Amino acid sequence: MAHKIAVIPGDGIGPEVISEGVKVLQCVSKLDKSIQFEFTNFPWGCEFYLKNGKMMDDDGIETLSKFDAIYLGAVGYPGVPDHISLWGLLLIIRKSFDQYVNIRPVKLLTGAPCPLKDKNPEDINMIFVRENSEGEYSGSGSWLYKGKPNEVVIQDGVFSRVGCERIIRYAFELARTEKRSLTSISKGNALNYSMVFWDQIFKEVSEEYPDVKTYSYLVDAASMLMVTKPERFEIVVTSNLFGDILTDLGAAIAGGMGLAAGANLNPERTYPSMFEPIHGSAPDIAGKQCANPLAAIWSASQMLDFFGYTEWADRLIEAIGALLIEKKSLTPDLGGSAATWETGDAIVDYLQKQYS
Ligand code: NAI
Ligand code: MG
Repeated sequence: MAHKIAVIPGDGIGPEVISEGVKVLQCVSKLDKSIQFEFTNFPWGCEFYLKNGKMMDDDGIETLSKFDAIYLGAVGYPGVPDHISLWGLLLIIRKSFDQYVNIRPVKLLTGAPCPLKDKNPEDINMIFVRENSEGEYSGSGSWLYKGKPNEVVIQDGVFSRVGCERIIRYAFELARTEKRSLTSISKGNALNYSMVFWDQIFKEVSEEYPDVKTYSYLVDAASMLMVTKPERFEIVVTSNLFGDILTDLGAAIAGGMGLAAGANLNPERTYPSMFEPIHGSAPDIAGKQCANPLAAIWSASQMLDFFGYTEWADRLIEAIGALLIEKKSLTPDLGGSAATWETGDAIVDYLQKQYS
């Protein structure tokens, strides 16, 4: 049966990169008849907001709940405040569908540019497991006496036992399967409730996994070490905010935003999971066909992996790797002069040559 995919290209470069990802998934279906997709496009995003006063249809979440996965480009555009575009679409989807696991690989492929001196692909190979449903992005807080001299804002960090345990346990399971170490990144010295609690739960859960080697770092030290000794990190588990920030740093050391992919997973599969490049809508380069679609294509690989097509998931990464080595079909951010669609076509060509 065909997998039903809701496609939300979104804003800016979102539509440009997502159409290349869809092109690649369609190529996979052509090459392997046992993998079929049915794509449905949704025009939601900032343009939709400017016309309709909302980022998505009122019954959007109910509509999306009938799909097997969501494939999203990016949301956000000048003219619509970022907190409205983010909360009106992306964060609502992550929360409504309990996509509490955000998987972001930080993996330097051979041929990808790395700004760190003397670091090679074997040094930069981590998987971030970011808490994706609560923490600093719980959306809880208040704004009192707005506009008055005694104005006060409160933004709560919400760390529940269930929320912390499930993400930490997911990371331990991944570390066990991958036979790699697990590093927890927190800030227990300054955040004396939330992060002390996080550290305590990490320690508790670790007792169930004596076979997994563990490390704990404070987020400031971890940021430094990601630059000076990235080889220290293998599987990493961290909170919503820290994961957001550190994975942009991760993107920078692993080839740039154009190569950084992400999966928002509901591991129980009660709801659809969502696959999206981690970059934003890049208004500075939108509409010029010069955005790098490889992050979106890498996210499509994560979708294939989640559906159980691990072989094809690996083949997509292999194709990305081949382009990086060959260097003929790369976009300007990677030093090339190819258009977005040409990079997409080159991935398709590679897959057809290798696997038809
Ligand atoms: P951004 O990721 O859109 O861009 C940062 C820089 O990276 C820009 O110079 C851009 O040209 C470059 N870049 C990003 N993706 C690229 C790609 N695929 N190929 C080549 N270059 C690429 O982040 P920025 O500028 O902070 O945010 C722009 C808008 O995107 C804002 O409205 C923001 O709220 C939104 N945003 C949305 C996200 C999402 O939908 N998941 C995530 C981050 C930001
Ligand atoms: Mg981010």
